[in-house]
Amino acid sequence: MAERVRLVEVGPRDGLQNEARVLPSSLKLELIRRLGEAGLTTIEATAFVSPAWVPQMADHAEVIRGLRRIPGVAYPVLVPNMQGFERAMAAGVREIAVFAAASESFSQRNINCSIDDSFGRFRPIFQAARERGIPVRGYVSCAIHCPYEGVIAPDAVAAVAGRLFEAGCAEISLGDTIGTGTPAQVQAMLSAVSRTVPLESLAGHFHDTYGMAVANVHTAYQFGVRTFDASVAGLGGCPYASGASGNVATEDLVYLFNGMEIETGVDLERLVAVSVWISREFGRSPASRVTQAVGVVPPDVA
Ligand code: HMG
Ligand code: MG
Repeated sequence: MAERVRLVEVGPRDGLQNEARVLPSSLKLELIRRLGEAGLTTIEATAFVSPAWVPQMADHAEVIRGLRRIPGVAYPVLVPNMQGFERAMAAGVREIAVFAAASESFSQRNINCSIDDSFGRFRPIFQAARERGIPVRGYVSCAIHCPYEGVIAPDAVAAVAGRLFEAGCAEISLGDTIGTGTPAQVQAMLSAVSRTVPLESLAGHFHDTYGMAVANVHTAYQFGVRTFDASVAGLGGCPYASGASGNVATEDLVYLFNGMEIETGVDLERLVAVSVWISREFGRSPASRVTQAVGVVPPDVA
């Protein structure tokens, strides 16, 4: 059987949370629908965070209620606390992600509490999720570098990832939040983290500020990681990490893995069409080099 990787599309959440223009819910739902039709099987749909902190995600309940779910596609959401969890459950969410950081300063800026306190907030979430059979993913931000503290020691990342795993996260996504990481740093970080979390439970989440994200994904793949987060058209960033650009573009990863004869389940042509369409909505060209290179998209896939 051919080798496979799983791509987690985070554009509707990580992408849109950092766009100055807030898309109407109907357009978000259209984006999610088109991504599902392109073959993405995990689409992070929104975040049940405070609208005062991230106004772009304020319509989280409308987005979940409006989903036209494709069988076999998961639509996880971020939740920072029990309030977010309860609202997510009321809206009909079936998978969630909690988000921690390997840097104290980033934790404070992003979720207004220390790393230890964030685990205190997550504890009831893990318990309630277990009782309801809701899978929980855990993010570790600043897995390489923190915008406030500089380089983060791989052991600090391993410690937070290990805590999330022990607490019951089925998968831990390691975030190069500001996209400064290089392959050598990724390798050093994964060497440490793979001592606390099994490789098959790890995902790579690379932002592309310095253009290293595809190389970092390749390095993580060679290390044994098989799940990667990406954002169509390279949308995104993080509102609490200024200057950081979007996630690696999903279509660039599909192109990478197609070239390695590794299955993603994603139709590149359809995905490029989604990338062109959503970029037009924002009035700019896609950050994806692949979409730029493919150029004009035939109307039948647009
Ligand atoms: P806080 O102000 O400390 O919260 O924020 P609080 O508990 O003191 O409550 C303050 C007010 O917020 C109250 O309202 C609450 O009801 C409300 P008031 O009484 O003043 O009217 N509130 C909420 N409302 C809706 N949903 C909720 C919620 N919780 C409280 N869940 C909090 C703490 C965590 C809520 C806030 O800091 C927050 O929402 N932060 C989210 C930041 C965020 O979304 N960042 C981006 C996602 S992380 C990321 O992008 C990184 C990642 O991509 C990986 C990587 O790249 O590294 C995942
Ligand atoms: Mg991110």
